[in-house]
Amino acid sequence: MPTPRSVPWKLVVHGGAGAMKRDSVPLEEDRSARAALHAALDAGAAILAAGGSALDAVEQAARSLEDDPHFNAGRGSVFTFEGKNEMDASIMDGRDRNAGAVSGVSATRNPISLARRVMEQSPHVLLSREGADQYSIDQNLDQAGPEHFAIPERRRQLEELRAHGNEFDAALKYGTIGAVAVDCEGHVAAATSTGGLTGKRWGRIGDTPLIGSGTYADDRAAAVSATGAGEFFIRAAVAHEICARIRMCGETAREAADRVIDDVGSLGGRGGVIVVTPAGEAAFAFNTPGMYRGIASAEGAMVAIYDDE
Ligand code: GLY
Repeated sequence: MPTPRSVPWKLVVHGGAGAMKRDSVPLEEDRSARAALHAALDAGAAILAAGGSALDAVEQAARSLEDDPHFNAGRGSVFTFEGKNEMDASIMDGRDRNAGAVSGVSATRNPISLARRVMEQSPHVLLSREGADQYSIDQNLDQAGPEHFAIPERRRQLEELRAHGNEFDAALKYGTIGAVAVDCEGHVAAATSTGGLTGKRWGRIGDTPLIGSGTYADDRAAAVSATGAGEFFIRAAVAHEICARIRMCGETAREAADRVIDDVGSLGGRGGVIVVTPAGEAAFAFNTPGMYRGIASAEGAMVAIYDDE
């Protein structure tokens, strides 16, 4: 029997890319966002440090970020034009490229765990709206009423958008969350979760639940989670494109991430990605002024928000 590989584990998280500048983010918000990123890193790192799987680590890190109202996912999800919460999430295991995703779910406390159930307990990859809500109940996952998601700042953002006409994300704050990890056996996994865009209508779906756009994991290449203007990330098939460049062109994670984010920019899109490879190379790339992000390994953890950090 082959001896399992032993490589240093690594975890990378993001809480969204956007127009965050050092002089425009209130100190209290800066501090609490950093604390939330550290909490997510702690949740995933505890699993990896104990020899657990990358898949478990990214799920737990994503749940931690979903539970924090700062980020546009789970509890802090933005409102649709009709004033509802419709959440998207996906998860992927690099060992066998198994994947699960949900779109437009309205009452699941942690959509990332629903995506994992779809991956592991159903014969499908992507479930949507009422069907996904029903599957969540059938799987006995924690449900939450509209009051759980009713964050006053999200309501204010919807009202501001309505007052200025239907301009999506005028503040350019794409608060999607995500996590990628490599475990000590060299397996990678990725998880991404979002409330989508403030004021979205007509059942709009972004890149987050689309495997290959917002999320991808392949032990032959890397794990990738994206955040940004989903329409552009779908058109560039961002997460798969980064993995394909690493696997087929021999690019490093940094080179592939930079080139694909440049490509998104050339289409007019804004956002960012986090990447980790089975060998432990980690990379961030974004074309916005900031991205909530963090990285943890056996050597310690660091978080950052602005592009000069
Ligand atoms: N990137 C998240 C979305 O566009 O919905």
